[in-house]
Amino acid sequence: PATAQGGGTPPAGDDVIVLGEVGALTGGQATFGISSRNGIALALKEANAAGGVKGKKLVVRVYDDQSKPEEAAQAVTRLITQDKVVLILGEVASSSSLAMAEKAQAAGVPMITPSSTNPSVTEKGDNIFRVCFIDPFQGFVMAKFARENLKLNKVAVLQDNKSAYSIGLTEVFRQKFAEMGGKITVTESYSQGDTDYRAQLTAIKKTQPEGIYVPGYYSEVGVIARQARELGLKVPLMGGDGWDSEKLFELGGSAIDGSYFSNHYSPDNPDARVKKFIADYKADYNGAVPDALAALAYDAARVAIEALKNAPDTSGPALRAAIAKTKDFPGVAGNITLDEKRNAVKSAVVLKVADGKSTYVTTISP
Ligand code: PHE
Repeated sequence: PATAQGGGTPPAGDDVIVLGEVGALTGGQATFGISSRNGIALALKEANAAGGVKGKKLVVRVYDDQSKPEEAAQAVTRLITQDKVVLILGEVASSSSLAMAEKAQAAGVPMITPSSTNPSVTEKGDNIFRVCFIDPFQGFVMAKFARENLKLNKVAVLQDNKSAYSIGLTEVFRQKFAEMGGKITVTESYSQGDTDYRAQLTAIKKTQPEGIYVPGYYSEVGVIARQARELGLKVPLMGGDGWDSEKLFELGGSAIDGSYFSNHYSPDNPDARVKKFIADYKADYNGAVPDALAALAYDAARVAIEALKNAPDTSGPALRAAIAKTKDFPGVAGNITLDEKRNAVKSAVVLKVADGKSTYVTTISP
């Protein structure tokens, strides 16, 4: 079962407001959950230092879902029934957020996902929000980059058929790339947790693509990159935000060099607000540079805190109405205005992977 993290049960009572958080602190998406937890903790620390909300201190109850959607759903039930949280932050992986959204919506407890990009997540109902862009845009971004910047004509796709995120991005990329005059040579699939991708990569190699779109998560993508190179596939790999992890470089080594992925934020951003966030995060987390997960989670927590300040009380309907009004909110991963579908409309960045790090290449706007 999902286990509670972070120092046991927070003191419930009149002097605190309890938020819930669900994340992957262990398993194949662990860096997503850890970065998100750090970003949220920093936002809460700052808000509490500034006096909290209406004289109350903010605390967060965190559950580890072990990178599993079923555990994420269970954690939401616990947060609502046992911990009596007023609002829930999470998840990162769209499949987990979909499972959570079902429960949060049914209970009327607002949920903000910092980083789940599959469109269906916020379609679960009017209590479900996100502070990031959605995949119909993200898929367009990489299709455009592949056609216009990399000048690719023929691309193969390798999707994770266990991830709502990967399936959705594959569909959009295929459609957009074809609309822009490109050809998809083949679409192959794997299942999250697989370790041998040679059969799919061999089939892909036969179609002689000029690039391979791999919209998966870092744990699998790193291994895929190595196996592709071993099989003599030297063309660039392309992906989405799911690549964003320190572990990508560890798993992929030099095999991942020369690849590109779309993302929400780049730490190379010279904006003063972003620089301050990076400095504060580094000070709290042993010099670690915040990734997009940390940045978006920090933003999601700050949107939640702002709503808590603006709402007349902490009931579900009051908080939901306050979150829905979010407009021009200055996030570190871009300004946030929520549309009528409770999604944020934002630009994306494309990053290039080389020498154990990713560097900013360009920004693509909706
Ligand atoms: N967008 C991914 C999903 O929906 C999650 C993710 C976001 C991963 C940002 C890394 C960085 O599943």
